[in-house]
Amino acid sequence: MKISFVRKAGILGASVGLLAGCSLGSEDDPATATSTSAITLGGHLPGISDADFNIARDNFLLVEAIADGVGPVMNEFSCGACHTNGAIGGAGEQIERRFGRVANGVFNNLPNAGGSLRQLMTVGSFINEDGVRCNVPLEREPANATVRNVGRLVTPLFGLGLVDAMPDAFFTQLANAEPADVRGIVRTTRVLLPNPNDPAQTLSTNRVARFGWKDVISNLTTFGADAYVNEMGITTQHCFRGTSITTFSTESAPNGIPQPAGCDDLAEDAPEGVPVGTDDAVGACAPGQTELQGDIQNFNTFMTFLAPPERDLGDLAAITRGAPVFNQVGCNGCHVTTTFRTPNPSPNGVPGGFAFNPFSDFLVHDMGRLGDMIGDDGDSVAVTRRMRTAPLWGIRFRNHLLHDGRTSDIATAIGEHDGQAVTAARAFAALSAADKHNLIQFVRSL
Ligand code: HEC
Ligand code: HEC
Repeated sequence: MKISFVRKAGILGASVGLLAGCSLGSEDDPATATSTSAITLGGHLPGISDADFNIARDNFLLVEAIADGVGPVMNEFSCGACHTNGAIGGAGEQIERRFGRVANGVFNNLPNAGGSLRQLMTVGSFINEDGVRCNVPLEREPANATVRNVGRLVTPLFGLGLVDAMPDAFFTQLANAEPADVRGIVRTTRVLLPNPNDPAQTLSTNRVARFGWKDVISNLTTFGADAYVNEMGITTQHCFRGTSITTFSTESAPNGIPQPAGCDDLAEDAPEGVPVGTDDAVGACAPGQTELQGDIQNFNTFMTFLAPPERDLGDLAAITRGAPVFNQVGCNGCHVTTTFRTPNPSPNGVPGGFAFNPFSDFLVHDMGRLGDMIGDDGDSVAVTRRMRTAPLWGIRFRNHLLHDGRTSDIATAIGEHDGQAVTAARAFAALSAADKHNLIQFVRSL
């Protein structure tokens, strides 16, 4: 359900310039990193008013119902129900489930059986507007799946608008600078829903994927629309430069079983010129019209301006000793200590020239046994082992770690590293107790 929110033209592409004192670290000595731009966790970057940010956040928190289009199958009723840890927009407690099948060394995400995401809820039994009783079944893992019940933990969204602002070339340079044995792979995916504020984004062109545990999505706008349909079952339609975008207009079919007409949810009929079953639509696109559906616009605004976590230098003695150990054992091969700086002016309204340190290269790496073995249709088994380097900023606000949330303990999480990260994991295991402690305190400070 749309909360109306009109962005002021003034903040589109606004460049606020370099924030005073926001030098968040340097390549050589991450322990000296400080942040003086005191933004409370869950607060917003400069470039948007409190009121506008709050409207966007309210939409992220809005609990939707079957009459708003939730279902037929879903995982939750609001974005805010999952992204909760530390502040709204954080990581969370939910662990979603995926499945797939490997045959002859090739991954198949079983789309005809509703894969690879197995939604955990259904709208169940209800009477639709034609008076028909609908019974939407719960999704089940198909018997022919060979990759089973894979967990996917909710990731935090703090600071991701800054990451979204980075140009593709930045990630390619990061990859080229990495030691060959740990070097990440730049993954590109098509922009399915361009951010209208960013003139460089066009429909269906490739962009470096940087979001999700496996780098499946290349901008926050697309992630919002994808999450709306896959997590909540709310389908949307948009206009981009006169073209109608219906990629997110198709309701999920539980285990691939189409539901009888009018049995996906109780949302009103879509306007003319929009696929039947679309829950929230902009309508037929006039020539040149660019308009995101209102909720997706608000999710995008909230995520774009959601501030990055601040560092916590409380245990300064241990942090100062731990920083060089982090580099010595090779953690920085993937969790790079490089300072990122947004282009000036920035393409999406976040401050231009803004320095930040996510401690990730946002590239995918072969993680050996830690890889979750989920992929796109046709991927080789080797490709399914690839995972995005998890950003380490704000890790102290987390309750669960690794893609399936299997541990809450940082040392255990390091011990699970395999594949390209096995050398670093072994080097960590060989450290003295004091060095281990200091390294972990450093990680907890990020
Ligand atoms: C049922 C819980 C749940 C709900 C509801 C939910 N998410 Fe998420 N979110 C997740 C999980 C799990 C992931 C990790 C997904 C993956 O990579 O497979 C995630 C990841 C993300 C990411 C990628 C962040 C990164 O680390 O790159 C974005 C962006 C996001 N969600 C936005 C949203 C928005 C917007 C909504 C509301 C439309 C939403 N989410 C609703 C569970 C949820
Ligand atoms: C070859 C690249 C690589 C190296 C080297 C590496 N990591 Fe990671 N790290 C990853 C990837 C990829 C993930 C996500 C893995 C997953 O959950 O499947 C990860 C996850 C983590 C997590 C969990 C974060 C979360 O969000 O759940 C921590 C903590 C961590 N790494 C710390 C370290 C430390 C400390 C070192 C050095 C001892 C290190 N890593 C070395 C790639 C690497």
